[in-house]
Amino acid sequence: MKRNIPSALRAALRPVPRFRSRPAFAQEPWQIQWQTRRGMAELVSAADMQFGQPLHETHPHIIKPGDLTPGISALEYHHRRANLARKLPKNSIALLVAADTKYRSGAVFYEYHQDPNFFYLTGFNEPDAVAVIEKGTSEVEYTFHLFVRPKDQKAELWDGARSGVQAAQDVFNADEAGDINNIASVLPDIIQGAKQVYTDIGYGPRKNAFQRFMEGGEPKVDGLAKLLQNASVKQLRPLMNELRVNKSEAELDCMRFAGAISGAVFTEAMRRTPSYTTEKQLWADLAYGFKSQGLDTEAYVPVIAGGQNALSIHYVRNDDRLHEGDMVLVDAGGEYGGYITDITRTWPINGRFSKPQRDMYGMLLKVQQSCVSLCREDADMTLDSLHRIAEQNLRSGLQDLGFDLRNNGLDVLFPHHVGHYIGLDVHDAPGYPRTDKLKENQCITIEPGVYVPDDERWPKHFRGMGMRTEDSVRIGKEKVEVLTDTAAKTADEIEELKGK
Ligand code: GLY
Ligand code: MN
Ligand code: MN
Repeated sequence: MKRNIPSALRAALRPVPRFRSRPAFAQEPWQIQWQTRRGMAELVSAADMQFGQPLHETHPHIIKPGDLTPGISALEYHHRRANLARKLPKNSIALLVAADTKYRSGAVFYEYHQDPNFFYLTGFNEPDAVAVIEKGTSEVEYTFHLFVRPKDQKAELWDGARSGVQAAQDVFNADEAGDINNIASVLPDIIQGAKQVYTDIGYGPRKNAFQRFMEGGEPKVDGLAKLLQNASVKQLRPLMNELRVNKSEAELDCMRFAGAISGAVFTEAMRRTPSYTTEKQLWADLAYGFKSQGLDTEAYVPVIAGGQNALSIHYVRNDDRLHEGDMVLVDAGGEYGGYITDITRTWPINGRFSKPQRDMYGMLLKVQQSCVSLCREDADMTLDSLHRIAEQNLRSGLQDLGFDLRNNGLDVLFPHHVGHYIGLDVHDAPGYPRTDKLKENQCITIEPGVYVPDDERWPKHFRGMGMRTEDSVRIGKEKVEVLTDTAAKTADEIEELKGK
């Protein structure tokens, strides 16, 4: 099908806002001149359009017009880069590398997951790519370089479509796009021209992908160490955390969607639980529910822990039988457009709480709800102060249930923190201080838990019980927004599901 540009421009080539005059971010979207970098000349064959990720033009059932990734517009990606550029000192660059494809063994790879900082700034969802945000002497101008895999018919026959270098400009709005295979001849000049290099390369797995390209390209350079030898290098992560910890409306909508669907899938799984005989069946239903209800994938390997398996916080084997009379602890969530949700519920496998189960569950729920109710900017909380409140309340709740908490008893029963930031990562903005005041539109979890070892130290009827209740929450100014409130929570709500 041939379509005529410019009438098909929006539909065919993603008319990109051309941000040459950078104060564009000060304009409203409708004030931006729309045109492609290639001009508006030719006809484009829709059948020829193949990209390395869903775009509106090829997958209108997934991506809305104007969006680059689910729920996030091309313009928002520009704003993010501009916001980072504002934080950079003059004559500096931010250097980011896409996540590698990871292999289970041999040629068998894992589902691809982009590096969250790279994704946050580019929306580009392929491996083997490098992004540079280059800030010169102007406060507002920056140059966005994007090096990607070139189109390659033979490789694409095996590995699926790539977006290619032209799309790096036309679709992803790079000012300068290049073939990743030539990066060794381009990047040294960019790095040498910068007074300051902000990067997380060299921290963790990022080093490998980057070195592969630097060492494999022409002219040959001696890898990262030599290249950055004369540069002043700082960690990029803290600047990225400052951006990512505060969510935009579009990000919040992604998180609302992920939360609402995941919560509803939990409720349905609770209803069906008496019919499951294994943890794996429950897992399969959750994964099916997330994807079939419109989410992209599971946010993380879930914990589906029947009985005493719940005492292991990161129990992910999920290969046991479920036993009548036990509870099952499920920590799971779906992901949408890269944004995750994080939920835990613990419920009785047969649909009815025993007396000790109900007592412990009710106590834990009260603690969780009292912390959730403080997730407001006007409550002046931090993650750490919420943790201390959870500890205090758990202490008195457990004592009321007959627990002797001398000798660090509470640390044994509640060994983890009450919450963490969430967003593109499950533990989002890693390293961002838990002592910072929580602000409107930040998103966190509240997840107190009690894990009672099967040990004579503890009251008999609670031994071997592991419970956690976790919701994903948006900090409101004066009001809390629970993103996962479609997941049944009170003991009565859970019991009412039986037989429905
Ligand atoms: N699901 C991981 C966590 O709750 O932190
Ligand atoms: Mn969590
Ligand atoms: Mn969790």
